[in-house]
Amino acid sequence: MDIFHRNSRISLLALSCILVGGLSAYGIAYSAEEKPVEAHNAQPVTDCFESRIGYSSVTRVENAVPEYGYPNVKCSQTTGGVLWWADPFVGTVPMGEMPKIGDITHGDFSNAVVRPREPLLTYFNLGPNGCKTCHDGKIVPTPKNKKPRLISMHQDIVNNSLELMHGRGAIWCLDCHSATNRNHLVDREGNEFSFNQPQKLCGSCHGENYIDWRAGVHGKRIGSWVKGGKKRWWVCTECHNPHTVQVNRFNPLKPEPPPALPRGMKNANYERTDEGKH
Ligand code: HEC
Ligand code: HEC
Ligand code: HEC
Ligand code: HEC
Repeated sequence: MDIFHRNSRISLLALSCILVGGLSAYGIAYSAEEKPVEAHNAQPVTDCFESRIGYSSVTRVENAVPEYGYPNVKCSQTTGGVLWWADPFVGTVPMGEMPKIGDITHGDFSNAVVRPREPLLTYFNLGPNGCKTCHDGKIVPTPKNKKPRLISMHQDIVNNSLELMHGRGAIWCLDCHSATNRNHLVDREGNEFSFNQPQKLCGSCHGENYIDWRAGVHGKRIGSWVKGGKKRWWVCTECHNPHTVQVNRFNPLKPEPPPALPRGMKNANYERTDEGKH
């Protein structure tokens, strides 16, 4: 079937059409390829990312707040990072119930929101039934067991399925992806989770990181700290690519350049300039 031999660029094109149709209100765009932002781009950067290039992108939309003429987002022209949002909660959904491991927040998640991952996944959006468009048990047969094997698909996501760069050889695709319900993630106990809640899967093996994340000392969240206040949480996959964790660790952002000096000041190190002396 030629659908299996399609070029990954075509799928990205298909994805952008879906995004333009389905998500234009949010102005979110996504690409499975990581494209580093070039420092001295002639074109202004209008596709910026929130935590990690290629994993949490937002496209600048002009005049998103017509009353004030604001765009939805302001992108750094040097790093491509988001500098400012008109509304950081746009496009978010309730985070849902959290496993209570190490809960020091006493369940204060009633107004916790996340940005859903499903609309951002290339292969989830190739057809009307998500991954099951192909993984329906017929077009792509249900795998017989969880044993690693070479697969002839998804090389854009995992280059070589026998050399998965996560878990140092201890885990494989079907330790995270459900064999029978491909639209869901699965943990080792068989609990299924939505792609929008990856922290539940990651937390099943990385308990300590999960506890830290829940407590607010790992990852990122913004919003109100008042009990019951609205807060947006960044989920694990907005920062970590689950397929390349060991080779492709978190890329730290480059700092922004310093602001322009006030008029008349020639050196920011003012204490050592002549003007500073008496
Ligand atoms: C265009 C069709 C297509 C779509 C859509 C698709 N897959 Fe696949 N996938 C395949 C094919 C074909 C194979 C098996 C290749 C082989 O056996 O060599 C495969 C294999 C896999 C495997 C290896 C285990 C297995 O079942 O053989 C995983 C994991 C996987 N896909 C995950 C996903 C996820 C997750 C999605 C949705 C986000 C998805 N796929 C969507 C075609 C597809
Ligand atoms: C540690 C758990 C884990 C393992 C192991 C894993 N995946 Fe995934 N996979 C995920 C998660 C989580 C996502 C959703 C990523 C996101 O939110 O950006 C995903 C997404 C995908 C997608 C959809 C990506 C897209 O943009 O459309 C495919 C295809 C896929 N995985 C295939 C595989 C294959 C093939 C293997 C084995 C060679 C594998 N995965 C191993 C957790 C895993
Ligand atoms: C089935 C168990 C399992 C699941 C589920 C799982 N991991 Fe892992 N992960 C591992 C193992 C095993 C290692 C290798 C640990 C080592 O070498 O010390 C690892 C390594 C990592 C590392 C690299 C650690 C380092 O110090 O280099 C990161 C980051 C990571 N995982 C993130 C995630 C994220 C994000 C998810 C959810 C999408 C996830 N993991 C889900 C088992 C898992
Ligand atoms: C806002 C971004 C962000 C989010 C969200 C995030 N992490 Fe991390 N994580 C990092 C950074 C940065 C590091 C530092 C190490 C590096 O360079 O990869 C890290 C390190 C790790 C490591 C390596 C071991 C360690 O403790 O240093 C693991 C495992 C891990 N994270 C798991 C998770 C899990 C599980 C989640 C979700 C519950 C998560 N992370 C959410 C940014 C994030």
